[in-house]
Amino acid sequence: MYAALLAGSERGITVDDNTAAFGELGFAPHVAGLSDKRDLATTLMGQPLSFPVMISPTGVQAVHPDGEVAVARAAAARGISMGLSLFASKPIEEVVAANPQTFFQLHWVGSREVMLDLLARARGGGAVGLILTMDWSFSEGRDWGSPAIPETVDLRTMVRFAPEALTRLKWLWQFAGSGSIPDLTAPNLAPAGGRAPTFFGAYREWMATPLPSWEDIAWLREQWGGEFMLKGISRIDDARKAVDAGVTAVSVSNHGGNNLDGTPASIRLLAAVVDAVGDRIEITLDGGIRRGSDVAKALALGARAVLIGRAYLWGLAAGGQAGVENVLDILRGGLDSAVLGLGRSSVGELTRSDLVIPPDFERAAGY
Ligand SMILES: Cc1cc2nc3c(=O)[nH]c(=O)nc-3n(C[C@H](O)[C@H](O)[C@H](O)COP(=O)(O)O)c2cc1C
Repeated sequence: MYAALLAGSERGITVDDNTAAFGELGFAPHVAGLSDKRDLATTLMGQPLSFPVMISPTGVQAVHPDGEVAVARAAAARGISMGLSLFASKPIEEVVAANPQTFFQLHWVGSREVMLDLLARARGGGAVGLILTMDWSFSEGRDWGSPAIPETVDLRTMVRFAPEALTRLKWLWQFAGSGSIPDLTAPNLAPAGGRAPTFFGAYREWMATPLPSWEDIAWLREQWGGEFMLKGISRIDDARKAVDAGVTAVSVSNHGGNNLDGTPASIRLLAAVVDAVGDRIEITLDGGIRRGSDVAKALALGARAVLIGRAYLWGLAAGGQAGVENVLDILRGGLDSAVLGLGRSSVGELTRSDLVIPPDFERAAGY
């Protein structure tokens, strides 16, 4: 399970660079005149965040029986927003009940009619905004350490995984106690009154549908009307087109190294996108955030907030809601230490001058 969450696409160049690049950025701390109190709060897409981190949508959180509901509860307990994947293992209504600050994430699936149904689902379910993820469709090879994930957890699968599961008795006990088995379905894609498709069934259908144009994105944004993030920007020209399409936010992202392998770390591309469109929309970053100091670095380069993926998935798999809360506390504590050391009194004050940026650090694509 750990390996399945860790894996990136192909050779893992991008998934590695996403974390390694943060290690290249240095801090320039002050030693006196530091602030006794630091304000870490901000807002993102109209929602308050007690610190500038949001849950990035990830599919099939069946690594724990409470899945996305546990993550949503942890996020609510720590005062941050939740991103819920279209391929989530829990229905949007349950997740919104656990965290009213929930954004629903869509992929472009099928036709405009299908998309209208999904918008209705998001609205009916109480989503406060949409995230349209556009950076997943290009990678054939998921071979960088990724084990095969079963289509369903049937008897054969249980027998196959029994030797591994028996060495993780605590985890097994949690599932046994919940009275359920890992649920690899996508309930938010169930037709009205119908059965939820399996995750891989839904995935195959999505992969078989025509890819959207910028006109489709502008149309979708207009249909929604509210807060709308386009997730997966690497290039300046795409960032500009996203602004033209009317989005309210973009996330500079390469899908956590799961898209086209060889894309530079998202943190290397952030500043160029901020310089190009940062005065017109909100900009977040995701990819490689493992520590609070990473959050500080992204903010210093112009991100309003960051989204996290694997960090909270590991917390969820290991300890459910408490595990995710623990991860969020670690990130918050690390961010606070960085803001303190940099002599700032709020996250909004972080600037590029707080960093030591090696000359060849940044990349810019798509001028
Ligand atoms: C196991 C896994 C599943 C993911 N599923 C989705 C998804 O369903 N929708 C989506 O927009 N992004 C998905 N992502 C990407 C994350 O939202 C996010 O962009 C990425 O994890 C950030 O990188 P990090 O894991 O290094 O924090 C997934 C990532 C992982 C690791």
